[in-house]
Amino acid sequence: KKVTVIKAPFNGGQGKLGVEQAPEKLIENGLLDDIKEQGWRYEIEDPLMGDDWRAMRADASDVYGNCKRPHMVSEGAKKVYEASVRARENNTFPLTVGGDHAIGMATLLAFVKKYPDGGIIWVDAHADINTPTTTESGNLHGCPVAFAMGLDQEHWPADFDWIKQLGHFINPKQIAYIGLRDVDKGERKILRDLGITAFSMYHVDKYGINTVVQKAIKAINPSGKAPIHVSYDVDGIDPQYVAATGTPVRGGLSLREGLFIMEELAASHLLAGLDIVEVNPALGPTKTHTLDTVNTGLSISRCALGDTIL
Ligand code: ARG
Ligand code: MN
Ligand code: MN
Ligand code: MN
Repeated sequence: KKVTVIKAPFNGGQGKLGVEQAPEKLIENGLLDDIKEQGWRYEIEDPLMGDDWRAMRADASDVYGNCKRPHMVSEGAKKVYEASVRARENNTFPLTVGGDHAIGMATLLAFVKKYPDGGIIWVDAHADINTPTTTESGNLHGCPVAFAMGLDQEHWPADFDWIKQLGHFINPKQIAYIGLRDVDKGERKILRDLGITAFSMYHVDKYGINTVVQKAIKAINPSGKAPIHVSYDVDGIDPQYVAATGTPVRGGLSLREGLFIMEELAASHLLAGLDIVEVNPALGPTKTHTLDTVNTGLSISRCALGDTIL
C-alpha cells in the first residue's frame, strides 16, 4: 500500500496564473498527513522540478495555429508521463496533483500502458476532448483526452510526436464522463461520433449519482475486473464548493455527489490511480473560498484512498 504523489505544478494548458500553486497548498493543508493517517506509505515525485517553466510560458513564439504553448505543454506532459510510468512500474498508487488538466494526457497514457484494458472516469464540467482543429480557446487543458486518444493527429504540433511514438492510445470505449455541463460544439460531435459514454448533470439529476456511477463503471469495465483511473477536475463540483478554479460552471455536482463517486470507486476495489487538477488558490474571491476549494481537493483524495486494491 503505497502512494506515489506526483506533483504537477503546471499552468501551461490555460491562461491563468496560480494553478501551479495547488500541489504545495494541498500539502500545506495536510495531503501527506491524510495519506499516512489512512495507513498508506508514500513517496513524492516532482518531475517538473529543474525546468524553467516561467521562461517557457513567457516564450511568445510557442504557438501552433490556434494552440497556445504546445511546446510547454508537451514538455510538461512528457515529464509527468515518465513519472507516472515509473509509479505504474513500481505498482504504487499514482496520485497526481495538478496543475491544470493538460497533464491528464500524461496520466491516461501511462495508465493504459500498464493496463491496456483499464477503465477511465473523467469527472469534469468539461469534456476536454477538443482537438487542435476544434479548440476555440486554444487552451490545451481543453484537449488532453483528444491527445490521449490520438484524435486529429495530422494537425498536431510536432512537439507531440513523442505521443505518436508511444504506440498506444486510449480507446473511446474505455472512458466515461461524469458531471459535464459545458461542452463545446466540436466536442459534442466527437462524443457522439465515437459513442463515448457521458453522464452530464442532466443524467445525475435524472438517475441519481449512485446509478450514474454504476453505469459508468459498467460501461468502461464490462468484465468487472479492470483497474480504474479517475481524472478529477475539481470544477466538476459546483462553484459553491469549488470557487477557486479557472473555468467554473454553475449547476455542478454537490460536494456529496462529488465525493460519493470516489467512495464508490474505492469500495469497488478497482481504483488504481487518481488525478486532482484545476485547484487555483489564486482565484478564490475570498480566503474562505480558496480554503474550501483546497479542502475539497483533500476530501477527494481521502475518499479515494479509503479502500483500494493496491
Ligand atoms: N472547452 C473549453 C476549452 O476548450 C474549456 C476547457 C476547460 N478545461 C478544464 N480543464 N478546466 O477551452
Ligand atoms: Mn518544441
Ligand atoms: Mn473542467
Ligand atoms: Mn478538465
